[in-house]
Amino acid sequence: MKLLVVGSGGREHAIAKKLLESKVVEKVFVAPGNDGMLSDGINLVNVAISEHSELIAFAKKEEITWTFVGPDDALAAGIVDAFEEAGLVAFGPRKDAAELEWSKDFAKSIMTKYGVPTARYATFSDFEAAKAYIETQGAPIVVKADGLALGKGVVVAETVAEAVAAAQDMLLDNKFGDSGARVVIEEFLSGEEFSLFAFVNGEDFYLMPTAQDHKRAFDDDKGPNTGGMGAYAPVPHLSASVVEQVVSEIIRPVLKGMIAEGRPYLGILYAGLIVTNEGPKVIEFNARFGDPETQVILPRLTSDFAENITDLLAGRVPNFTWIEEGITLGVVVASEGYPLAYEKGIRLPEKTSGDIETYYAGARLNADQELVSNGGRVYMLVTTQNTVSQAQKTIYQQLQKQDTTGLFYRTDIGSKANK
Ligand code: AMP
Ligand code: GLY
Repeated sequence: MKLLVVGSGGREHAIAKKLLESKVVEKVFVAPGNDGMLSDGINLVNVAISEHSELIAFAKKEEITWTFVGPDDALAAGIVDAFEEAGLVAFGPRKDAAELEWSKDFAKSIMTKYGVPTARYATFSDFEAAKAYIETQGAPIVVKADGLALGKGVVVAETVAEAVAAAQDMLLDNKFGDSGARVVIEEFLSGEEFSLFAFVNGEDFYLMPTAQDHKRAFDDDKGPNTGGMGAYAPVPHLSASVVEQVVSEIIRPVLKGMIAEGRPYLGILYAGLIVTNEGPKVIEFNARFGDPETQVILPRLTSDFAENITDLLAGRVPNFTWIEEGITLGVVVASEGYPLAYEKGIRLPEKTSGDIETYYAGARLNADQELVSNGGRVYMLVTTQNTVSQAQKTIYQQLQKQDTTGLFYRTDIGSKANK
């Protein structure tokens, strides 16, 4: 079969590469992808993710069996609905199910209605009312733009003044456009964060290994929030009972709730979680794979990924199997300045081989056919080893050998884990 992946980052590189390993797959296309994917035998399609009718025309012309949708904005724009209306199959939630990600207010209302543990909250579109609520609740408190904001629409405020300023940015000064026309203000939760992903069709779901992202730009969780600077899977210090609690108190009720709401969920459900003194609670839901978590989760999949998704789409029971031992860890190399302004066009080190995989994100071939940087997050090195310490050693020794002038990376990915 021939498959299409929609998206362009490291996440889509990892998805496409795993699909290509399948014995039933002949070709994998990525639209638009990035030039770093070419060396893995992935085909690029020069169509933007927002061009639904062009993507549909391509899928028809190439007789694509099904399409895997990577990014949140494509799902929020209803790409799955558009494919279905054209008689094509796409793996991802429809627009009304993806609302779990594209409206934080919707996600909170579903969680409240179906008894899923999460931070207490209130939603506002009026600044004065938001301000009054913040003043009665006190700090620390968390202010979130309702809509998609590239991971930048969340302010964890230490003081009332900071929270009020964030609400003002969003509600009065339109800093996040329509995404910030409503804000969700919620209780600050403390505890360790982790992510749990599941493959879902309706009420049926299949868990992936747990993962932990590193969202801040610099070591020791300092600096601005980014898309994610590194990750590892599984999280060795999480107890099986916490995961069981997440399944029974969070995943099951949410999927049942979505069916009851007439919005059955198909695709990847990403639960961003925090383990509080009262047990695990939801920080957010995403309607897709995480980036960079995918790049450390999918290398652990030992079953035939394309067959698994085909089975799931057909309502059959897929047989997902995973590496049970060791740790997969990856470090993102980003352009200096990211997540703010940065330069492009820096020549990239050679692709790794052996037990280190390179997944590319912001990369392109220049006129001399050299791979150069072309985005904030540029590439990620990933390895699977027996322990976190061994994986860190493998990756960081490799990074020291590479010329990363003009680029940067965190030196402490995985340091919260038991080594
Ligand atoms: P989000 O984009 O919703 O994942 O939020 C980004 C980050 O903000 C999360 O990874 C958390 O570190 C932090 N955060 C979000 N909501 C809360 C909360 N209610 N309490 C504490 N931290 C939070
Ligand atoms: N790694 C965070 C995200 O994909 O949203």
